[in-house]
This record gives sequence, structure tokens and C-alpha cells, in this order.
Amino acid sequence: MDLFEYQAKKLFAEHGVPVPTGRIATTPEQAREIATELGGKVVVKAQVKAGGRGKAGGVKVADGPDEAFARASDILGMDIKGHTVHSVLVEQASNIAEEYYASFLLDRANRTFLAMASREGGMEIEEVAATNPGALARIHIDPLTGVDAAKAREIAVAAKLPEAALDGASTLLVKLWEVFVRSDATLVEVNPLILTGDGRVIALDGKVSLDENADFRHPENAELVDVGAVDPLEQKAKEKGLNYVKLEGQVGIIGNGAGLVMSTLDVVTYAGEEFGGQRPANFLDIGGGASAEVMANGLSIILSDPSVKSVFVNIFGGITACDAVANGIVQALSIVGNVTTPLVVRLDGNNAEEGRRILKEANLAVVKPVDTMDGAAKLAAELAAAAA
Ligand SMILES: Nc1ncnc2c1ncn2[C@@H]1O[C@H](COP(=O)(O)OP(=O)(O)OP(=O)(O)O)[C@@H](O)[C@H]1O
Ligand SMILES: [Mg+2]
Repeated sequence: MDLFEYQAKKLFAEHGVPVPTGRIATTPEQAREIATELGGKVVVKAQVKAGGRGKAGGVKVADGPDEAFARASDILGMDIKGHTVHSVLVEQASNIAEEYYASFLLDRANRTFLAMASREGGMEIEEVAATNPGALARIHIDPLTGVDAAKAREIAVAAKLPEAALDGASTLLVKLWEVFVRSDATLVEVNPLILTGDGRVIALDGKVSLDENADFRHPENAELVDVGAVDPLEQKAKEKGLNYVKLEGQVGIIGNGAGLVMSTLDVVTYAGEEFGGQRPANFLDIGGGASAEVMANGLSIILSDPSVKSVFVNIFGGITACDAVANGIVQALSIVGNVTTPLVVRLDGNNAEEGRRILKEANLAVVKPVDTMDGAAKLAAELAAAAA
């Protein structure tokens, strides 16, 4: 989960990383109030989860409360790379002497953590990496020792930060590492990290990605979710404990096991080409259990997606045998009720014969059993095309 800048800065502040004082506003009036409280020059900053806000006109300096009102009026409602601005951060303007870059991230390719830092901050770091790679220091971090004062200094020196910024940057980096570890982040990035006219080092921007696999350790993260941006079906699926991802197509997919579901998406995409480009409408892995209740929950979510024209239930019976799944499907259809969308069902593996017999005996008009995965994908795509 990616955080907004204001959320990242709140997290920074909680761990002692210095950030400008500021607050969030959703109306120009609020922006004026905050500017009045802060006094002096302020910066009004669009809160969207997209880079390049400054370039897009989403970061503006205001001389006082009235100008903050005006700048907030300009920025609120703006579209930045497809994201509508619903709120602005109003914060004290800093006296910037120099702008640097610093980040910690999970380096998946090398199975370790990485610090990146540069004296050339403020601009897009991808550009620095491309045009002047020597200016971007990359230092691996041993997860067992982490970042202590010495390591932090090593990073700051490697980034070629000037003498005047070394102490401040090192102190900040130790705390930033704490943010990274304690909040189970996969990325914390500060661009720009600034040296102020009076010699302090401050995080002027903040980007944080949290590892959702660690959410169970962080009940406080629930507050950080951008409710307006979450897909309602994904939200419903999450509440029911289902691994569901909404996609753009027309063929609903249910399978057991992430690998099987992934390959089902491929097979349906391929089969769909023949039928005007029918594509999978979702990813849904109902896992090992595949009880009637889980099947019913999955079906009801998929069927409440108006773009779904057919459903492909692809089950490979393992510990949960196909007869149990078949009974689950029959019961699920009566739990959901009034299902008119065709359900192509492929059962294979443990007790497949018995599963197929149960489906046949139930004699449900919407259920179309097919023995092979390719055949089932083709029929599901064909039915979706016919219903479009
Ligand atoms: N509190 C502040 N005081 C003074 N100047 C600021 C302040 N916040 C931002 N700025 C100036 O605005 C520039 C852009 O701000 P920021 O880095 O937050 O946004 P951005 O880089 O354009 O957006 P993104 O990081 O999403 O690409 C900074 O490099 C800095 O020069
Ligand atoms: Mg920035």
C-alpha cells in the first residue's frame, strides 16, 4: 500500500525524522486557516499518489493565508496523471539551501535491503540514475545490523553530501531506517531531503510503500487506506477473506490455488482472442478448502460484477476432492439464488469422476461441465461473447 505524502510525513515525525510543520486541507477555507496558524510563507501541495506533482503545478508557494486560499482553490480538483486532487498539504515553507535524495528499499533482485542517496535531489531520481549514474550511491544494508550511525554516515559520504549536511543527514538516515523497519515498509523515499539555510537537514517530501503482508502486525494501518480508491468488489472480497483481484474482462474466474488461477487467466485470454477479445474479469483463488460457503462467497462477488458474462470454475482436486467441490458448487448456486450467468465447470484430479456425476445429477441449466481446461476456457469465452 502506497501512502500519501502527508501520511508518510506523519510516520516520519512519529519516528523523529524532521519534517516541516503542516496539516491537511480539503477546502480552500481550511487551507487559509492552516496558513493563518502557521504564519509566514507556506507551501500548498497536492496529495495524490503520483510522481511529478511539482511539474504538473500541484506544488505552490503562498505568501500568506489569502494566497494559500487561492492556491488551494487552484489545486483542489486538479487532475494529476489521472488522479483527482481531493486534499492539499499546507506546510511551512522551508528556506532551501540544497536538495538531496535518500531512500531505503527492499532490493528483491539481490534479496537484500538497499540505501540509495544522492547529492542531486529534487528532480526525478530516475533521470539522475540514467544520465549521471555515478551521482547515485547504492549501499547494501545487512538486515541483521541495519543502519547505525556509522552506516548512515557511510551512506551520506557515498552520496557526496557536503560536510555541512553530513551530521544532520546521518542522524536523519538512522531514524528513517527505523521508519522502514518498524512500519514494515518496502520503500521509504525522501526527495528532496534538504539542507536549510540555517544548517538543518529535513525531509521535504515523503513516499512510503508498506508491505501488506505485514498488515496483521499493524492494526493502525487500517486508517491509512484510501477508501475512495479501493474497488468495492475487492473490498467486499477482502472482508470475506478471499484472494480476489478485479480485472477488465468479461469472463469471471474461480480456481483453487494461485498457480492454477494464473494459468487459467492465460488460457482464457488466449481462447478469448477467437471470440472478439474476451478476457478474464478477475483473479479469484478460493484456496484449498473450497467449501460451499467459500464457493458461494466467491460466486456472489463475481456475479455482482456487471461486466461478467460467463464464469469459468477451474478446480484441480487435491486434499479437497472434486466431489466436495461439486457439492459446494451446487449448494453455492442455491445460496446465491437466481443465477442466470453460465458457469463452465472443469473438475480434474482427486475424485473428478464423482464430482462430474454430482454436477450432472443436479441438472442445473447454468452449469456447463467440460473435461479439459482448454475446452472449458474456449466455451467460457464463447458464452461471454454470445452474451455481450
Ligand atoms: N515545505 C516546502 N518549503 C519550500 N519548498 C518546498 C516545500 N515543499 C516542497 N517544496 C519545493 O517543491 C519541490 C517539489 O516538492 P515535492 O518534492 O514535494 O513534490 P514533487 O517532487 O514535485 O512531487 P513528487 O515527489 O510526487 O514527484 C521541492 O523540490 C521543493 O523545491
Ligand atoms: Mg518529490
